[in-house]
Amino acid sequence: MVRRAIYPGSFDPVTTGHLDLIERACKLFDEVIVAILVNPGKSGMFDLSERVAMLNDVVNARSKKVIVDTFDGLLVDYAVTKEAHAVVRGIRAISDYEYELQMALMNRRLCPQVETVFLMSAEENSYISSRLVKEVFSLGGTIDGLVPDLVIERMRAKLGSQEQNESVKTNKTKKG
Ligand code: PNS
Repeated sequence: MVRRAIYPGSFDPVTTGHLDLIERACKLFDEVIVAILVNPGKSGMFDLSERVAMLNDVVNARSKKVIVDTFDGLLVDYAVTKEAHAVVRGIRAISDYEYELQMALMNRRLCPQVETVFLMSAEENSYISSRLVKEVFSLGGTIDGLVPDLVIERMRAKLGSQEQNESVKTNKTKKG
């Protein structure tokens, strides 16, 4: 029997902390599905296809056990469809625990056979979050080591194209 886990999240973008968690999950399970939430109500820095591409690029190089996928609706429904035994979530600090416990208990109520497994992130990753990485980057701070290099490249490319769009808009306004 294949021991399969789902590692769900927004992954906007994937960070070094996420990769640490994926590696830890791979030690415990035969297959780890990194499942990106399709959330039409929340626009992120990267669209869904860009997140899938980035995750595929970084995880394929690391392990054949990892599959990247997307899901919508209830996480537990997705877990059942995939015949997963567990949902894996990372705990960086006590502050994560309350929210994670709430989700885990709700998921257990919805679907008692899907177990949630909390994995502790490495200490050096305990302050990394996608939200802070984006904030630091947008304000010109260095994010080396906090996300994989290819994510930095794609964030730079995105910022570059945003700046180009802004200057096109400004020029149009000036002309108009
Ligand atoms: O990386 P995130 O944003 O903390 O991930 C949150 C995620 C995707 C795990 C959570 O929002 C989720 O599971 N959403 C799916 C909808 C669902 O099942 N909601 C009930 C959870 S108790």
